[in-house]
Amino acid sequence: MTIERRRSEWIVEALALRLNQHRDEPATLAQRLYTPLRGWIQQGELTAGEALPSSRRLARALGIGRNTVLTAMERLAAEGFVVARQGAGLSVADLGPLPVAPAPRAAMVEAPPLSGRGQRLLDFCATLSGGHRAFAPGVPALDLFPRERWQRLLRRHQQRSPTDWFDYRSQGGLPALKSALCDYLRLSRSVRCHPEQILITQGAQQGFELITRLLADAGDTAWIEEPGYGGAQACFAMAGLAMQPIPVDAAGIDPEQAAGPPPRLIYVTPSHQYPLGVTLSLNRRLALLKTAERHRAWLIEDDYDSEFRYTSAPLASLQGLAEGAPVIYVGTFSKVLYPGLRLGYLVLPEPLVEVFRRASARLHREGQYVVQAALAEFIEAGHFARHVARMKSAYRQRQAWLRQALAPAVAQGLELSSGHAGMHLVARLASLEQEQRLVDTGHAAEVALSPLSRYYLGPGRPGLVLGYAGSDEGEIARAGGWLSRAWLDLRSR
Ligand SMILES: Cc1ncc(COP(=O)(O)O)c(C=O)c1O
Repeated sequence: MTIERRRSEWIVEALALRLNQHRDEPATLAQRLYTPLRGWIQQGELTAGEALPSSRRLARALGIGRNTVLTAMERLAAEGFVVARQGAGLSVADLGPLPVAPAPRAAMVEAPPLSGRGQRLLDFCATLSGGHRAFAPGVPALDLFPRERWQRLLRRHQQRSPTDWFDYRSQGGLPALKSALCDYLRLSRSVRCHPEQILITQGAQQGFELITRLLADAGDTAWIEEPGYGGAQACFAMAGLAMQPIPVDAAGIDPEQAAGPPPRLIYVTPSHQYPLGVTLSLNRRLALLKTAERHRAWLIEDDYDSEFRYTSAPLASLQGLAEGAPVIYVGTFSKVLYPGLRLGYLVLPEPLVEVFRRASARLHREGQYVVQAALAEFIEAGHFARHVARMKSAYRQRQAWLRQALAPAVAQGLELSSGHAGMHLVARLASLEQEQRLVDTGHAAEVALSPLSRYYLGPGRPGLVLGYAGSDEGEIARAGGWLSRAWLDLRSR
């Protein structure tokens, strides 16, 4: 075999391997052919003058269309990487002396240090310990989402979309979605609002960001629940706010327990405290409203999973309790639909509406109007209410499976939260050492566990936050069974 022939074989085989390895890449076939060829030419793997296999041969050997090969080759030719050979076919162009091959990435860049703010953010970026995600808190039942119906709606609205949805927008979201949401919130959450007060965001997290940036300055104080939600706390930390943790008891946070400078922001999860799961009592709600008014602070009501209540009707929102109260209601579709949707909303008091709309358009830009239109129809046609009702009974069932799997440990004293609402249970543990041992052994058994102590800013109490909504019966039985055995084993030592 001639050298030329051997090189040509190598190119075909190497391309076949690449195509096979990167089967799931979203790029087109032509791009997946173009990218390695260009890389080999740039790195000097293929040298000037070398002949490339003919498009016919490549197409046959790789089992792809000849037009696909031609598209890739035309791009390489247009960019000057290959040239037409005398006779027929293409060969590698002479690119002149090649730059010295780059060193491996990690060795090449000595990264400049993170900002102090960036360093602080890392404290809030702890995730589950990887592996099996049976207990991931806050993940809804992705397996039960009505994908086909949703895809149909998306397709229809994509086809119908007016050209101005492709433009920069600054309406605070699609009016049809704001009005569908407004009806839903008034009816099911007793929120006082009209559609203009709603600002569509890319999830609750973006809502917290906007609130923090617009309503507090560095050095201001934010009251937070202890333990509490790291997502909101990350925003407060990034804005340089001083966080004042207020302990949560069986009736929620108690504003009477707060000490120190007056707050600018007060963040609460009144329907279902995250992560402990208690509901803020009416007395505390009223006290909190009074406290906020006295300090001229803003109350941030994060109503992230209030739809899922199993033993009683959902409580009215804090926002709906008093006319003109300084409350910003934050909602999300991450729990009721799916987190990757990245849609949430704020219900803003009148004086903030215009400022927030303009700031959101400036800082984050608006978009996803096709998705918003599909969602508006999903709500208006009743699919949303039906999905929530279905998920409520699915989660009740999933919680029952988890309780069943943990029953042997519970019989021996493992303490679980009431589970009257929400998508997770909290298991109390005897010590931080026990918590750490379970997290470590869980890691080895591919059962990722979320330690409760990590949800505290101050000294943490030991426990586990056990999400059950996102896992099916088999996963819950496996992970729950493992946890039960592991806890019994640790206890008997
Ligand atoms: C307490 C709480 N609030 C809000 C959210 C939702 O955030 P987003 O809408 O950004 O997904 C979560 C998600 O985990 C949460 O646990």
